[in-house]
Amino acid sequence: MNKRTLNHPKSTTGTSRVDGRLKVTGGAKYAAEFNVKGLAYGVLVGATIAKGSIRSIDSKKAENAPGVLAVISHLNCPKIPGYAAEPAKAPIKIFYDDKVLYNGHAVALLIADTFERAQYAASLIKVEYNAQKHITSLKDNLGSAVAPPSDAEFKKGNPDAWQSAPFKVEQEYILPSEVHNPMELHAIVARWDAPDKLTVWDKTQGVKDTQSNLARIFGIPVENVQVHSKYVGGAFGSALQVWQHEVAAIIGAKVVKRPVKLMLTRADMFTSVGYRPLTWQKIGIGAAADGKLVGISHWATGQTSTYEDFAESPADVSRQLYACANLYTNNKILSLDVGSPIWMRGPGYATGTFALESAMDELSYQLNIDPVELRLINYAETDPETGKPYSGKSLREAYKMGAENIGWHSRPKKPGSMTEDGWLVGYGMSTGMFQADREPATVKATMNDDGSLILQTAVSDIGPGTATPMVLIASETMGIPIENIRFDLGDSAYPNAPQQGGSTIVSSVGSAVYLACIALKEKFQQLIGNGGTDKPDYAAVLKQHNLVKLEVVTDSKAGTEVDKYVMYSWSVHFIKVLVNPLTGVVKVDKATCVADSGRIISPKTARSQIIGGAIMGIGMALMEETVIDHRYGKVMNASFGDYHVPVQADIPQIEALFVNEPDLNINPLGAKGMGEISLIGMAAAVANAVYNATGKRVTELPITPDKLVGWGELS
Ligand code: MOS
Repeated sequence: MNKRTLNHPKSTTGTSRVDGRLKVTGGAKYAAEFNVKGLAYGVLVGATIAKGSIRSIDSKKAENAPGVLAVISHLNCPKIPGYAAEPAKAPIKIFYDDKVLYNGHAVALLIADTFERAQYAASLIKVEYNAQKHITSLKDNLGSAVAPPSDAEFKKGNPDAWQSAPFKVEQEYILPSEVHNPMELHAIVARWDAPDKLTVWDKTQGVKDTQSNLARIFGIPVENVQVHSKYVGGAFGSALQVWQHEVAAIIGAKVVKRPVKLMLTRADMFTSVGYRPLTWQKIGIGAAADGKLVGISHWATGQTSTYEDFAESPADVSRQLYACANLYTNNKILSLDVGSPIWMRGPGYATGTFALESAMDELSYQLNIDPVELRLINYAETDPETGKPYSGKSLREAYKMGAENIGWHSRPKKPGSMTEDGWLVGYGMSTGMFQADREPATVKATMNDDGSLILQTAVSDIGPGTATPMVLIASETMGIPIENIRFDLGDSAYPNAPQQGGSTIVSSVGSAVYLACIALKEKFQQLIGNGGTDKPDYAAVLKQHNLVKLEVVTDSKAGTEVDKYVMYSWSVHFIKVLVNPLTGVVKVDKATCVADSGRIISPKTARSQIIGGAIMGIGMALMEETVIDHRYGKVMNASFGDYHVPVQADIPQIEALFVNEPDLNINPLGAKGMGEISLIGMAAAVANAVYNATGKRVTELPITPDKLVGWGELS
């Protein structure tokens, strides 16, 4: 059978997520749902200035309110052992001193016996400040940007070569700050089981990482910290680190000698768990008349906080995507009086491709070369940055599949020249790429004498349905049905696994599952001796040998292939938009997303992953934007009423296609990540389609109607 027909885009075949029923019936318990015995409730009070210090905290009234157990601030916070050893640039040290670092920085925690009482009493706390002049505008302060700690500048050939090319584009781009906004609010339930023993039920993308960080902060042995995070309702990067609210709840539990639950509000989610940084970019790109690129230069400045040097390096993509002799990239950061950004789905690349792939589109019109053709002319056969071979790249095939599926041949060559029922029609496309990593991971595999196979590892699942591919890998390797297999995750007691981030889990943990199953089969073969079959009746063999179980613990990690190859997942997005010429409203009419992410292990969850990323990309292109009122340094649209994300009615037909070419140079499964590439490139593809429809090049996201109608007649 042709391997591609296995994953036909219209096919809904494939295994449904193995924990799906629990999730839709309420059987899956999330962090805030662990109502342990003696639970008390915490509510944070956030600073109302962007910079300065706390002059006074009047908590008398709050303390006397019914049910209140404690009010904690820098005035009375117990000494936190790990704070002293923190480096100068580090996450917020909550209740450490009187400094206010951003509008929303938590300055007090109120704990009461019910949530409602905690909420009411927190409203009675009066904080006075000594405000200092704050700076929160990136656009007004670009000149103050500095080099980040790493990845600042790259040069190959002549950095100015693009300027002397016969065809060139010089353009600036703005990507607003975006918030991850998972459905599940960040939450923690913290319980001290002994003065040096801590248990938390927490929303985290990495239970092991949270475990070691909490041990360090509270100065207790790692093995004395238990982290449970079995179900996570989305995160997209926001749960990659320990935040101030987690530390606050743990401090609170110590003070009141009861377990404490602390769940952020939706408004807190905009200030206290990171975001994709607002970023200014500039591209200079030049080509010869035949479309061959002469040079690319890419400058980027992203915002960070005053207390951390976060950098997502958006310019890097311009030295990695196209074959070109002259490349220059320059990343900078600008410290502002805001909370720290953090990785958000497709970090660096989602931002960088918006600029580079918009510029490529603009160049294609100048050259009068089809945008897909222009990309094929400059197709990189080896990595432009290092000259090394790729572990695998079937991007050419992806362009072809996507163009066919969207009907690229119908695209109007002249912008603004096609209408359907009075709407302007446009087609656009973009490439996406993201590094394909493989992290160390360990899996314990246990075969029981009832024929059940239990797999255990400390990975989290933030939503993609991680257990499903894992169970499929084990089923195929062991030759047993998936119903006999259980995948246990989200607990720090299990063997080591990486954080769920950077699209690495199938490659890392999937490989560990595969290798553990191979090791377990070998153990059975030793037991059986000569003459055993490849797929024995495991339960019968165990009974024969009077064993209740057989188990292995298998470590797995990348080998020397990482020195030989450069490893990426690739994607191509094709978009058809309709633009209303009177109102400037943009409707995405169809999206076709093609992933070249190696072998597809789990077609159904893979398809969901691609569709989810495409939806997020439509939001990025058309809606998402955090707005700060610079007079107060305050986020003004911190709610789902004001910060728009796509709803079902905004989403068109989306086709998820897979090249499905195994990349066996990266891991024994041949599988690479797709969580990030599903989003990366989407914003440029939509912007390029809008240009094709209207002749208006929008370089500042999101593409809201005002940006299209303000410039006069559209057609
Ligand atoms: Mo992510 S930014 O891969 O959580």
